[in-house]
Amino acid sequence: MTDSPDSNSMWGGRFGGGPAAIMQEINASIPVDKRLWEEDIAASRAHAAMLGAQGIVAAADAAAIDAGLAQIAGEFAAGGVPVDLALEDIHMTVESRLKTLVGDAAGRLHTARSRNDQVATDFRLWVRTACDRIDAGLKALQTALLARADEHADSIMPGFTHLQVAQPVTLGHHLLAYVEMVGRDRGRFRDARARLNESPLGAAALAGTSFPLDRAATAAALGFDRPMANSIDAVSDRDFALEFCAAASIAALHLSRLAEEIVIWASQPFGFVSLPDAWSTGSSIMPQKRNPDAAELVRGRAGLLLGAFQRLAVIVKGLPLTYSKDLQDDKETVFGAFDALALSLAAMTGMVETLSFRTDRMRALAASGFSTATDLADWLVREAGVPFREAHHIVGACVKRSEALGVDLSELPAGEAAAIHAAVTPAALAALTVEASVASRISYGGTAPERVREAIAAARAALED
Ligand code: ARG
Repeated sequence: MTDSPDSNSMWGGRFGGGPAAIMQEINASIPVDKRLWEEDIAASRAHAAMLGAQGIVAAADAAAIDAGLAQIAGEFAAGGVPVDLALEDIHMTVESRLKTLVGDAAGRLHTARSRNDQVATDFRLWVRTACDRIDAGLKALQTALLARADEHADSIMPGFTHLQVAQPVTLGHHLLAYVEMVGRDRGRFRDARARLNESPLGAAALAGTSFPLDRAATAAALGFDRPMANSIDAVSDRDFALEFCAAASIAALHLSRLAEEIVIWASQPFGFVSLPDAWSTGSSIMPQKRNPDAAELVRGRAGLLLGAFQRLAVIVKGLPLTYSKDLQDDKETVFGAFDALALSLAAMTGMVETLSFRTDRMRALAASGFSTATDLADWLVREAGVPFREAHHIVGACVKRSEALGVDLSELPAGEAAAIHAAVTPAALAALTVEASVASRISYGGTAPERVREAIAAARAALED
């Protein structure tokens, strides 16, 4: 059979001419999906081996296909994937090269397969690896946070609500909050990975195939837990990619919150941290400046990640079953999300490892804003039997008077205190140190240094698992 000279060698049988240049540009995905080359070749090798084993293609052809695919893998590893828009995508790029290498046998590889199940298979494999890579990045960040938390299990800083000084906490405790968040992020990627690990291969275009496939064999060869149960779902589902983007978005939100704290902490009015040269930049006009650019970029990059989820959700939202070409844009979306998150994680880990915490400054500000007022109320409840609601009022009055006198709560003159309530004794006021405050918060999950050290040990043990 001879095709028209311009028509596509893979699907051009019914076409009289080639696509317009603009059509080729909007249609071709090879500039993006060349990143799937390893997965594409692995899936094709599994498919070819199965076709041979099932007697669907001759053993000699299956062997020739396998050798050709192995050679292509070597070529692409060494020299990259050639980008020819006429070959549209990675699937046709590989098959076209295979034809050059092994001749007619190459034409048998696509038996009982479609690009629809092929791309779904490749992409699941890619996202699976991406989950593992992100997990490693998240784990590295946890490790860095734990090291700094350990160093600062006793360092006192102000804890905030509404960005108002609330109660003293330890820096170690604050950093451990991020260890927890990152731990949940890892769980989300783990869940997504477990759910995506089913093989679409063999669903063919959408309906399955008349050939006697062994879908369990290709699934096993590619490390999938099982073949997907429904061929229509197999080629149209992109939940796995959405889950990846959703997990990535939440992780990015966590990174963004930490980035925002670093930006605030690095500002002169706070002065809680100084940024090492490696993670800051200067200004072209203001010689004194040292800007927290890496943190700002991580914070801003969260926009890209949230956008990726939104973009993919909108792509999928109105699509009838099964495959529509809209889905081709799923890969650029997920690749972009992966790249942004991987880079943000690496940058955040580097910053956390190298930030220098100005603990003197944190300690000084921890006592500001009457941060031990709750401790005084607790003291009145515990030592003087005052009901908490009443204690709250008494301490409120003490704060008001201290504020008017321009003194700290612990410095309220004895006569002034006694005038407010007899239980507010010099002993009560003397107990109001930030050290005593944090040391007293021994409830499970609390900020007392001994609890923080236990939490660090538990987190380290969990990390080793
Ligand atoms: N390049 C396509 C994609 O990424 C592969 C699937 C093409 N399938 C089709 N029926 N045209 O989605």
